[in-house]
Amino acid sequence: MKKLFKLVLVLLVSLLIVGCTADKEDPTPPANGGETPPAEKKTYEIGVAIYQFDDNFMTLYRNELQKYFKELGEKDNVTYNVEIVDSANDPNKQNEQLNTFLTQGKDLVIANLVSPSGADIFLNAAKEKGTPVVLINREPAVDTLSIFPGKTTYVGVDARQSGTFQGEIIADLPNKGDINGDGVVKYIMLLGDTENVDAQQRTQYSIEALEKVIKTERLGQGLRANWKAEEAQPLTANALQQFGDDIEVVFANNDGMGLGALTSINAAGRVVGEDIYIVSVDALQEVVDLVLEQKYTGTVLNDHYNQAHTAADVAVKLLNGEEVEPYYWHDYVKVMTADDAKLVRKDYRTETIEKYKARLETITDKPIE
Ligand code: GAL
Repeated sequence: MKKLFKLVLVLLVSLLIVGCTADKEDPTPPANGGETPPAEKKTYEIGVAIYQFDDNFMTLYRNELQKYFKELGEKDNVTYNVEIVDSANDPNKQNEQLNTFLTQGKDLVIANLVSPSGADIFLNAAKEKGTPVVLINREPAVDTLSIFPGKTTYVGVDARQSGTFQGEIIADLPNKGDINGDGVVKYIMLLGDTENVDAQQRTQYSIEALEKVIKTERLGQGLRANWKAEEAQPLTANALQQFGDDIEVVFANNDGMGLGALTSINAAGRVVGEDIYIVSVDALQEVVDLVLEQKYTGTVLNDHYNQAHTAADVAVKLLNGEEVEPYYWHDYVKVMTADDAKLVRKDYRTETIEKYKARLETITDKPIE
């Protein structure tokens, strides 16, 4: 018993000594001049391939993504080393860039695919390497997301909604877009690139929404301007020359092309809101300002802010080894007031492949004729 008492006493005393020494100031300052050495900061390598830097919307998206990763790094005390490359709208160049990311051993890849139909090859390669992938902006076929489940995701917006909103903006005008009152809205349509789901669905759903309230007729073929103002401008000028006052509405798959069209509309002496309407998607600041000044009929917010934040948040989950959902969706917003275009953090909706497939059965997506 006495022995045990002694042992406890010795233990207590030694604990006390350790405690005191720890509290005591160390008389010899550390070599770095008094600062405690920083804890080892974890670094994650992230490769981002953007389909093309020369694109207004994707520039906003890319800048927001970079900025937000920096904020997240400061908050989490980790370094997110984000390498962003320009795929210059060239699928072969992008394949090389993506494969380089994999061979470099990036911890994660974010891909804005030039050609979403090529996604399967890349995802199989990523799976082999065990590299998680976040797909953004260009929605791939639903089965693509079954290739590497839990480690691949699509973060985006449902382009059908943006088309519907465009059509509704025209349908909600007092004359439903029918300026000459003949019961048919005659329009031209400026198109994004061929393979792009956003271009296909905005084209289809804008007209379907308008057709709910009035007949429509497209004048001429769809005008392929590949998202660009400089391509939309001459195409619209030609159409205005060819069809003259018959054109009542200009639909553009994005604001960039809408701005190009507007230049030609103004040059032809047509007045938006009086003898012609124009509606598009993205809510670039320049277009929002024009809408508020009633010099442009309407736009739909393509929320790059929330898409970028969710893409990064989901990327962080993947970097932490978590499994993620196949789909993270945000909403488009019809821009009627300055508030509608405000960028504030919003909730996303997740969806499983099965649920999305069931939803697709209730929908008829058509290719552009
Ligand atoms: C769309 C956007 C366009 C263009 C395109 C690129 O969502 O509205 O302006 O950026 O993505 O894929």
